[in-house]
Amino acid sequence: DKAQQDALKKAAGIEAAKLVENGMVVGLGTGSTVRFLVDELGRRVQEEGLQFTGVTTSRRTQEQAEGYGIKIVDVDDVDHIDVTIDGADEVDKNFDGIKGGGAALLWEKIVATNSNRIVWIVDETKVVDTIGAFPLPVEVIPFGAGHVISRFKDRGYNPVLRLDADGQPVRTDEKNYVVDLHLNRIDHPRELAEDLINTVGVVEHGLFLNMVDMVIVGDPNGPRVMTN
Ligand code: A5P
Repeated sequence: DKAQQDALKKAAGIEAAKLVENGMVVGLGTGSTVRFLVDELGRRVQEEGLQFTGVTTSRRTQEQAEGYGIKIVDVDDVDHIDVTIDGADEVDKNFDGIKGGGAALLWEKIVATNSNRIVWIVDETKVVDTIGAFPLPVEVIPFGAGHVISRFKDRGYNPVLRLDADGQPVRTDEKNYVVDLHLNRIDHPRELAEDLINTVGVVEHGLFLNMVDMVIVGDPNGPRVMTN
C-alpha cells in the first residue's frame, strides 16, 4: 500500500543522502522520493552543518531545498555537477528507465546529462523486466501539439494529453505540454527514442537509456544497490 511504498521511498532517499559530502555540487531531482532525500539533506545542513551547492530540476524542488537553507544555483553557473540524485518511474536490468511522471523530465535530462554521476532512488515496485507499463511522458511545444498527437496516434503510440485537476493541459516549468504514451511495453526503446526526438514539436521524452550509474532500491529488507 501507499504507506509501505512511502516508507521504502524514504529509506532510499535517506540512503542516497549519505553520498553528499561537504563542498559538492549536487543535482537534485523531482518527485515524491526526492522529497524525502531533500528532507534528509536539509536535516544534515541544519543539524550537522553540511555545506553543498544544489542544482535543481524543478521549481518545486528548488522551493523545498531553499526552505532548508540549501544553496541553489542555476545549472549554467556551475562548471560541473558531482552527482545527481533523482527518482524514476521504471527501471529495468539494462538500466533503461522512464522518467517524467512528475512532468520534470526536460530539466531532469539536462541536469543528468551534465552530471559526473547519476543515482536514482526508487521503491522496489519500479524495478521491472520490461519498461513501458508506465505511460511514457513526452514534452511537446503547445504550438501545433494537436498535430503531434495525431501523428503519435497514427504510429499506434496511444497518446493522451496530460490534464490537471481543472481539465487544463499540464504545463511544464518551460510552459510546454506533456503527452503520455500508453504503450504497455517498450521492446525497442532506442528506436522509439530516435523516432520521438526526430518528431518536430517534441522537446524531449522520458526515456533515460543507460544513463544511470547506480540505483538505490527501497526494499522491505533494507535499501539495496544496483550498480551499472
Ligand atoms: C519527475 O518528472 C519524474 O521524473 C520523477 O522523478 C519520477 O516521476 C519519480 O517520481 P516519484 O518519486 O514521485 O515516484
